[in-house]
Amino acid sequence: MRYSKEFLRAVAQRFLTATGSDEAEARIVADHMVLANLRGHDSHGIGMIAMYADYLKTGRLRPNTPPTVLKDTGALLQLQGNLGYGQRAGYEATEMAIERARKHGLCMYTIANCCHLGRIGTYGEQAAAAGMVSVHFVNVNQFRPLVAPYCGSEARFGTNPFCCALPDVDGRGPFVLDFATSIVAMGKTRVAMLAGKTFDEPVILTPEGQPTADPRYMWQEPTGALMAFAKHKGSGLCWACELMAGILSGGGTIQPEHERDGSIVNNMTAFVIDPKALCNPEWMAHEIAALNDYVKSSPAPDPENHPVLMPGEIERLRTADRSAHGVEISDGEMAAVRRVCLDAGIPASELEP
Ligand SMILES: NC(=O)c1ccc[n+]([C@@H]2O[C@H](COP(=O)([O-])OP(=O)(O)OC[C@H]3O[C@@H](n4cnc5c(N)ncnc54)[C@H](O)[C@@H]3O)[C@@H](O)[C@H]2O)c1
Repeated sequence: MRYSKEFLRAVAQRFLTATGSDEAEARIVADHMVLANLRGHDSHGIGMIAMYADYLKTGRLRPNTPPTVLKDTGALLQLQGNLGYGQRAGYEATEMAIERARKHGLCMYTIANCCHLGRIGTYGEQAAAAGMVSVHFVNVNQFRPLVAPYCGSEARFGTNPFCCALPDVDGRGPFVLDFATSIVAMGKTRVAMLAGKTFDEPVILTPEGQPTADPRYMWQEPTGALMAFAKHKGSGLCWACELMAGILSGGGTIQPEHERDGSIVNNMTAFVIDPKALCNPEWMAHEIAALNDYVKSSPAPDPENHPVLMPGEIERLRTADRSAHGVEISDGEMAAVRRVCLDAGIPASELEP
């Protein structure tokens, strides 16, 4: 069934305030989740509240817990996430980094140990909207490994997302390259399984190391492993995220000496760069626009179904469609959302679309 963004936002905000977040925090987290739905990344949309409800009960997610500053030299900003909502830590840290990059030309910032940061492209879009270029490396602690290294069969990494974003200069929208370094994000296996679907191609290795398109292998014992994208290259980038985010933030890597309580704890190392500190803005705008024109002019054999798109474009197309026609959420996913909202004391009448 399709749900309006207003309904999804209201449900998310209501759940968050009913489980301890103040209005301001609830607004940031709800906006992040609903934007993920609108962008077409339902794996990071309001379906996540079922998982957050579980974390909240066991103290693995702490509402109203802002990130704290460990180090701030202007160009270097190191934050501790304190197991607060990652969407809030990511938003506040990115705002701080933008302000510092305006002053110093660059701010490298890290966040250690926040709960799930959600969709990393949100922070790329935030920086791009302020005219900044950004690069983000993220790793995952506390959750079991999910991704097998190239040529391995058992999981050794998180789905470690990477993002690179540049501001809009030609009205096409910002460049936002944002992906999990596994072929599919783990949340997409949940969405597919709840909807009773399989993937179009093998994205998972069975416990025996055989490629499969069946999402259930990630949700039954013994579990399989997600495959890294692009063979040794994706596996290498996934490993780089582990090192860049895990080491420089101080939050640590997925290596097995660390405790694993089963929750998603993220670390992020990111760079916000003011391009004006390095190049003439008119030249940059012209150069990016000319490159966009050139790349998109490559003839597409099937332009109607498979046009040449720039990173970030498909998300904007989906946002326009979903804003107008609603967000499709499976009955299984919505039932899980309703269950945790009712548990949080929200009357059933407030959960009707
Ligand atoms: N917080 C975490 O721990 C965590 C972990 C993994 C993933 N994530 C998030 O999950 C989300 C989904 O990741 P994913 O790997 O499933 O994304 P994906 O496979 O849909 O890839 C998305 C990227 O590819 C681009 N893209 C998609 N189709 C395109 C096309 N036809 N032509 C050109 N570019 C195209 C998009 O614009 C975007 O930049 C991301 O937002 C990521 O940040 C978060």
